[in-house]
Amino acid sequence: MRIFSAFISSSASFGHRSLSRLSLRLLSFSRIAIPMDAAEESLRRALAEKQSAIETQGNAVRSLKAAKAAKPEIDAAIDVLNGIKLEKSSIEKQLEAAVSGNAGDGVLSREAFRQAVVNTLERRLFYIPSFKIYRGVAGLYDYGPPGCAVKANVLAFWRQHFVLEENMLEVDCPCVTPEVVLKASGHVDKFTDLMVKDEKTGTCYRADHLLKDFCNEKLEKDLSISAEKAAELKHVLAVLDDLSVEELGGKIKEYGITAPDSKNPLSDPYPFNLMFQTSIGPSGLSPGYMRPETAQGIFVNFKDLYYYNGNKLPFAAAQIGQAFRNEISPRQGLLRVREFTLAEIEHFVDPEDKSHPKYSDVVNLEFLMFPREEQMNGQSAKRIPLGEAVSRGIVNNQTLGYFIGRVYLFLTCLGIDKERLRFRQHLANEMAHYAADCWDAEIECSYGWIECVGIADRSAYDLRAHSEKSGVPLVAQEKFSQPKEVEKLVIAPVKKELGLAFKGNQKNVVEALEAMNEKEALDMKAALESKGEVEFYVCTLGKNVSIKKNMVAISKEKKKEHQRVFTPSVIEPSFGIGRIIYCLFEHSFYTRPSKAGDEQLNVFGFPPVVAPIKCTVFPLVQNQQYEEVAKVISKSLTAAGISHKIDITGTSIGKRYARTDELGVPFAITVDSTSSVTIRERDSKDQIRVSVEEAASIVNAVSDGQMTWEDVWSNFPHHSSASTE
Ligand code: ATP
Ligand code: GLY
Repeated sequence: MRIFSAFISSSASFGHRSLSRLSLRLLSFSRIAIPMDAAEESLRRALAEKQSAIETQGNAVRSLKAAKAAKPEIDAAIDVLNGIKLEKSSIEKQLEAAVSGNAGDGVLSREAFRQAVVNTLERRLFYIPSFKIYRGVAGLYDYGPPGCAVKANVLAFWRQHFVLEENMLEVDCPCVTPEVVLKASGHVDKFTDLMVKDEKTGTCYRADHLLKDFCNEKLEKDLSISAEKAAELKHVLAVLDDLSVEELGGKIKEYGITAPDSKNPLSDPYPFNLMFQTSIGPSGLSPGYMRPETAQGIFVNFKDLYYYNGNKLPFAAAQIGQAFRNEISPRQGLLRVREFTLAEIEHFVDPEDKSHPKYSDVVNLEFLMFPREEQMNGQSAKRIPLGEAVSRGIVNNQTLGYFIGRVYLFLTCLGIDKERLRFRQHLANEMAHYAADCWDAEIECSYGWIECVGIADRSAYDLRAHSEKSGVPLVAQEKFSQPKEVEKLVIAPVKKELGLAFKGNQKNVVEALEAMNEKEALDMKAALESKGEVEFYVCTLGKNVSIKKNMVAISKEKKKEHQRVFTPSVIEPSFGIGRIIYCLFEHSFYTRPSKAGDEQLNVFGFPPVVAPIKCTVFPLVQNQQYEEVAKVISKSLTAAGISHKIDITGTSIGKRYARTDELGVPFAITVDSTSSVTIRERDSKDQIRVSVEEAASIVNAVSDGQMTWEDVWSNFPHHSSASTE
């Protein structure tokens, strides 16, 4: 959730409580320290000890030589020195492995692994840099045929897992959005990232990325830094999303960070709005933007959707569509692009009752969670039962908990490794100021932990903002069976007096008075009654003003009400489909040796639900009769709606299996007789023999999850492969 996060300290529209949040953050930033991983810390300390031992021993050797000591004595001292140097180099290697996360000998390093995955993806056209023949455009990618199929499968499963399961109301709104909508939502003013410019060439960089890269590179490549310095850099990384403009600029200066390409000095950070601006119609008078998220289309339709739902809460609306963000420096392939597919859910709920009817379905799930506290104390993510996280108040409410659980199930069913999936809670100031709580589903890949789904309780912010701007009330009603007597706080600023006293600042003072909560209002009332005057901080003015008794009337009034009218809260899971797909590619990819042992073969171990093609059909040898059988099976697969491919090339069967393994096809039917065929499962390479008539229905059953391969394996005769794989 980016909106507003980068800009906390300088925003003027937060109401008068934001300042206390800011000062809290500054305090916490200077007080806490992030301890390092214990193993890494002890390696850094051991390295420093060895370095100083080398210096001491080097001095000893030099003194012996200067004193013209006996040769055996000098040689012995040199042997000791060499021994320490060897120990130092072994510690360096261990430290290198510890900080880079790279495995030891024989296992691919992160970069080599990523290169192998990306090469395979690009070679097999999972994706293609857009406009490649014109040298491409950074941050824009096309999906090729298998990539399109994977994406369609992920979206189909998303619709099944969320839209169908919860009876969500799906909508499809335009990408081009008039300015007024995004002005109301706050995007026009604050959808920004902080940017720095090369002072000589004008090249732009995202400020937090430069700081992040600096810290990571120092930690990974500069083994001579002290344990204390390493802890400091890790702390900066942990609170990076929490830094204000000033703190970020301060760190860039303190560390002497320069422009990566030219090494020129950098400007101070400043906000850059990420929306692509356009104009609607030929006159140029109607400004618009390409939407940066799909959510706003749902909010502006709230009134109609609520009516469609029988004026009942809770309900959820969903939308899948393209989102556009003019990223300052797109990088990391599909992970940070300028146009991407978002799948978003807006679940509308009564703010006074955030329970969820299906909460019991997820309450017993247990997975890696990374609460705010643990992040601030330098601990790592830990396995917490979801029910416990909700009941202890770590997760703000049941509905938020319910969606966290459902997102976990969605991602793991797709094939995301549950050991490399964690739910990280936003730090207090990373969160948009209106949000009640926010968790990111982060997936670990070769680029580190990547936010793939944001799950936020956005409170009533969006509906309120659009109600105010459009004048159309976006509210829900709860009708009481009996009228209720309620006591209401009424804050009535006396505009005439305030105007006389504050002139042009009158509006700011009125807004700040109206924004007081009950306690603040009652405290003010008491103070005005006893002293007649009170000092009052107006955040948007950045100063205290003096409020007198005649400037505001504060009272509690009793009223009879037949219904409660309120603005619903919204809980929003927001899925970056491209990021999920890329992580899925990495989590599914592995290599295995060919039978001859002379090469490594690539495999995408996609679960059938994701696999771009579910099945290949091969005649074992080029032969008219086998090809006929293959065509019959293909017809049955088509009738059952199973995506498949026939390969009648004369290539060896082993090579054909390898080719489909690389596309992640889970099953292969090989026609080696006119009456029966074999079905091979990709990961185990196990084969069963079945009749020609049965083949398509078995593949259908294992592809759509009615049966597992284990079921099939225990029910059909096994076939031992004659192929050379
Ligand atoms: P980040 O901090 O990584 O830029 P964000 O916090 O701005 O992300 P949100 O505004 O919460 O992201 O957007 C919802 C989801 O959209 C994210 O969880 C992510 O999966 C996806 N997303 C956001 N920006 C991009 C991008 N530039 N390219 C691809 N996916 C993106
Ligand atoms: N089913 C044919 C083979 O793999 O040899």
